[in-house]
Amino acid sequence: MLIIAFTVLFTPTVGQQTTPDEVFEKRIAPIFKSPNPSSCVQCHLAGVDLKNYIRPSSKETFLSLRDQGLVDLDKPEKSRILALIEMGKAEKGADLIHQKNRTAEYEAFTAWIKACCADKELRNAPKLKVEELAKPPRSVEVIRHARKDQLLESFTNSVWAMRFRCMSCHIEGSAENKKLVAENGERVSWFKAAGPEATLKYLMDSKLIDTKEPAKSLLLLKPLNEVKHGGGVKFLVGDEGYKAYRKFVEDYARIVNDKYETAADLPKKQTMEAFGTEIWLKIANTPPAWADKLVQVKVFAWDATKKAWETDPIASTDRKVWGGGKLFQHTLTLSATPGSARAKAWKAKAELPNGKYLVRAYLDTDGKLAKDWTAELGAVDFVGEAEVTSAWPTGYGKMTVVDGGKVKKP
Ligand code: HEC
Ligand code: HEC
Repeated sequence: MLIIAFTVLFTPTVGQQTTPDEVFEKRIAPIFKSPNPSSCVQCHLAGVDLKNYIRPSSKETFLSLRDQGLVDLDKPEKSRILALIEMGKAEKGADLIHQKNRTAEYEAFTAWIKACCADKELRNAPKLKVEELAKPPRSVEVIRHARKDQLLESFTNSVWAMRFRCMSCHIEGSAENKKLVAENGERVSWFKAAGPEATLKYLMDSKLIDTKEPAKSLLLLKPLNEVKHGGGVKFLVGDEGYKAYRKFVEDYARIVNDKYETAADLPKKQTMEAFGTEIWLKIANTPPAWADKLVQVKVFAWDATKKAWETDPIASTDRKVWGGGKLFQHTLTLSATPGSARAKAWKAKAELPNGKYLVRAYLDTDGKLAKDWTAELGAVDFVGEAEVTSAWPTGYGKMTVVDGGKVKKP
């Protein structure tokens, strides 16, 4: 008798109605306990996961979401937590696995939030204490930095901008590349013809970046020829190419290992945007003191309104001087303030207008870059300058040439 009354009174399902606790146990708790990452990883490499918002009980989880403004009590289907889950829906080319996860998460949360919002007592329960709220452990700045689209931006500004130092051999489909693929296999084509996003994705899935010891990444050791490289020496420790790649792999490793704890740990935002080109600058007849040393060249544009050279270099490059041939030559990387008219134009096509320019040379006399890859060449390393007028054509066969004998201190 007693048992029957008990069952009738406490049977939680009446018709279609399901209690929040039941939905939670059946559908939300498994997400919480699952060792698999949520659909958020499609875009967030670290810093946030759906699990961060879930507490062990239905009630606490709901109140925690409610108190953070992530639930719309009157229009549960408009809740911000559902919008966060749905973020990746519009993304084309999203992995099927993310899609499947997302649909499961979305349906589970929708059913559970609807059940919670229908429960008067739960809706009106007192607020949790601040320390009881379940939320991502990282600050908004860290969450932002660890987003894939942000990573792509920094990749475009570093590895991709320096691509002309490697592309002749490594870009999918070029004549040289096809030859090298025939000899070494498809792995030579790690620069993807589809662009920076496809290249980044390939590198993230490859073994070329060592996220445990970034400095040991093949992406660095191969071009240094520290691990035997079919292309020979293409980087010197501390040169512009090495710096760009090294900064990128260091940052990437810290992101995926969740090593950024606060905004203060994040790398400084780059003040300039970099654009790779196939514009070659050659200094012929280099002075004997430059022989077999690293020389960096900065190019300054003429500002006709101010009647002066611009203060920031518009382009730069660096390389070890070939002492035997008294020769310095390399491709220019252009640089512009992010968001400026120049930066916008160069996104479509990176080129330098015909005109008068100042070429300044800096010599790494005692190998300071090799000792500390983060070191910069500056005023103390300045060895001379020369004016040049050029339309800056592109291609190995059309170099802009400066006579080394004319590179003098003013
Ligand atoms: C398709 C990519 C994508 C997916 C998937 C995605 N997000 Fe986001 N997320 C973004 C973008 C872009 C922003 C910044 C713009 C914005 O706030 O709308 C962002 C911002 C955020 C923020 C705010 C931080 C800030 O910058 O103010 C949080 C918190 C967040 N997402 C959590 C999540 C959670 C939790 C999931 C998984 C349930 C998720 N996101 C899934 C792209 C995504
Ligand atoms: C003159 C042609 C040439 C140039 C230029 C060149 N490489 Fe290579 N690279 C090769 C060849 C050939 C291989 C395949 C043989 C080997 O592994 O060394 C290779 C292999 C690699 C690999 C290993 C790929 C893998 O999946 O095993 C990496 C990483 C690499 N190069 C990085 C670079 C970087 C970075 C640059 C530019 C700074 C560069 N290379 C410039 C010819 C070149």
